[in-house]
Amino acid sequence: MSKIKHEQLLNILKSILHPAKGVDIVSLDMVQGLVIKEGEVGFALNINPSEAEMMEQVRKTCDAKLLEIPGINKVVSVLTAERQPEKKIPEMQAPTKGAGPLKNTRKIPGVKHIIAVASGKGGVGKSTTAVNLALALQTIGLKAGIFDVDIYGPSIPMLLGVTEQPTQDADKKIIPIISHGLVSMSLGYLMRQDTATIWRGPMVMSAVKQMIADTKWDVNGELDVLVLDLPPGTGDVQLTLAQNVDMDGAVVVSTPQDIALTDTRKGLNMFEKTDVKVFGIIENMSYFLCPSCGTRSDIFGHGGAREVAEKLGVDFLGEIPLHMDIRETSDNGTPIVVHQPDSTHTAIYVDIARKIQAKLS
Ligand SMILES: Nc1ncnc2c1ncn2[C@@H]1O[C@H](COP(=O)(O)OP(=O)(O)OP(=O)(O)O)[C@@H](O)[C@H]1O
Ligand SMILES: [Mg+2]
Repeated sequence: MSKIKHEQLLNILKSILHPAKGVDIVSLDMVQGLVIKEGEVGFALNINPSEAEMMEQVRKTCDAKLLEIPGINKVVSVLTAERQPEKKIPEMQAPTKGAGPLKNTRKIPGVKHIIAVASGKGGVGKSTTAVNLALALQTIGLKAGIFDVDIYGPSIPMLLGVTEQPTQDADKKIIPIISHGLVSMSLGYLMRQDTATIWRGPMVMSAVKQMIADTKWDVNGELDVLVLDLPPGTGDVQLTLAQNVDMDGAVVVSTPQDIALTDTRKGLNMFEKTDVKVFGIIENMSYFLCPSCGTRSDIFGHGGAREVAEKLGVDFLGEIPLHMDIRETSDNGTPIVVHQPDSTHTAIYVDIARKIQAKLS
């Protein structure tokens, strides 16, 4: 980032006043995370939530003024409301009965059902499972979409082989990408990863909420189901989403290793506490299928997720083998459900999709 450009941006933003206070937004310390890279500017406006409507206009003014600078071709800005420390929920707390903030109240326009794919631990194959599941839901006749909420490591662009960027329609709605017939949206489509990683939690949430609201999810007709690929763990993003989006249910992905199962319990716990129904557990990389001879080996000590599911009283939805074809097809942007529709792997995803369909209806 060139220093001059950064100052130039700040100078422009300094000309914009807080409408009620009459003081410029830079002096009020409202501009945060200002970054510029290759003609793309990103920043957050830290606001008081009660002024959201007014400040949305200010945000638009900022965008318009910055776009007037020669060489700036894109501005991604979000409103963020700094949360008070007492509102942070580092550990799970049971919601007080009837407590407003923990109620699920938000439907996504153009979407009938929302399911989240989550995991307590990273790298268990959540995104791979989410994308194949969304495609399998499509195979059984549902109109499906996927929303990559993993802003710190969006993998849906790679998994779906998407390189283009979404466009906007006349109403400024974002037109999601459609690939393999699947509607998809990812922050990875809109901004460079290195920009996203410097964002703090509140900015991330603001961006996610804005994307939910601004995307034309029903571009291809109303979606029967939107699959959310959540970031790993049980942090703020997951919790805020669970509180702000009216999810029909969650699917927790786990590997058979014990450590992952401990995390699975945490994942389940989070949904219970936020009143999101857990549809069940999927065991991924459940057993090893030898690519040359097809022999099955339970290298991780198989069956743990089924046991945990039974103990915790949630359904066990299925087990997906560890197989090179699953990884390779994902890496190549054509997930296995599309690439090998008649394979046994695809049959497993389709079977899980049917179980989920039954739970939705
Ligand atoms: N069943 C499987 N067989 C073989 N490889 C798999 C399988 N599931 C996932 N993988 C591979 O494991 C790696 C991690 O998978 P993925 O990115 O889906 O995990 P994740 O849980 O979404 O990770 P993160 O926590 O970083 O979001 C990828 O390289 C993926 O191709
Ligand atoms: Mg992932």
